Amino acid sequence: MFRQLFYKSRKFYDDDFDWENYTRDSYLRRLKGDVEAKYRAISAPGELEFYAATGRVISKGQPIQPNQQLILEAVGQLGPRTVHEVGCGGGDHIANVATLYPGVEVSGGDRGASQLELALQRHAGLQGRLGLQDITMPFSDRWPRADLVYSQAVVMHIHTAVSHFVALSNMVRMAEKYVLLVENPHCHNFVADLKALHEGGHLAWDSLHMYRFDGSTGARAILLSRAPLERPALTSDQQMREGIKPSPRREKRANEDSARGLIGFGAAG
Ligand SMILES: C[S@@+](CC[C@H](N)C(=O)[O-])C[C@H]1O[C@@H](n2cnc3c(N)ncnc32)[C@H](O)[C@@H]1O
Repeated sequence: MFRQLFYKSRKFYDDDFDWENYTRDSYLRRLKGDVEAKYRAISAPGELEFYAATGRVISKGQPIQPNQQLILEAVGQLGPRTVHEVGCGGGDHIANVATLYPGVEVSGGDRGASQLELALQRHAGLQGRLGLQDITMPFSDRWPRADLVYSQAVVMHIHTAVSHFVALSNMVRMAEKYVLLVENPHCHNFVADLKALHEGGHLAWDSLHMYRFDGSTGARAILLSRAPLERPALTSDQQMREGIKPSPRREKRANEDSARGLIGFGAAG
């Protein structure tokens, strides 16, 4: 416990975790305690079904984790041909996308080699579809492109310098049509930062349309679309935070993170 507190107070890791040791230090424990104890993490063919009329995914038997439910419902409703997960970790979400939608081509990237090893242990079918990728690096033409690019619990943990701005800009550039951010809305001012990136010319898309996307079992996410959709527009972070217990500590850090961004090319003098 003491070691963990000490580790978190170290100043030279600005992200929430030391990603080199993350699988052993944190991820496996959380996967067992927070996910597998309550939900079915890996679904076999036939255990999940998407109903186009309602936009819902129904799980036969055990329920699935609400954020995963949202991701699967977003894929069903948006109908992408290709899907890429940034920070795919142990691979359960992207593997279940492939199981539920066999016609969709999937890929996943993560900066943690041990995370990708774990993903391949859990999902042999992901062989050849995963790659080492640091989404805070300058954009690479080797990265896969996809109709839909999403992250779940990744950008919320990135707080080093201006890295979360870089990650958001890179995700938009990788995506042909949509970006889905399944992230804690208190950890960054996602909506304000995305608007600023767009207005400052940091996003590859000419137009940016933002929506709140709610899963059928309570999770919420930010959906970015290149083309307008018939949904109410998302204009503020407050809309994403509505009804969730405020987190002054996280919001203070989010404001500090936003303030580090030097956007666009402001006139001198
Ligand atoms: C909380 S875990 C979530 C993993 C997975 N999305 C899930 O829901 O199980 C965060 C993941 O993001 C990855 N990650 C952190 N920073 C990253 C970066 N800059 N680029 C790519 N992946 C990153 C970590 O290695 C880790 O696998």
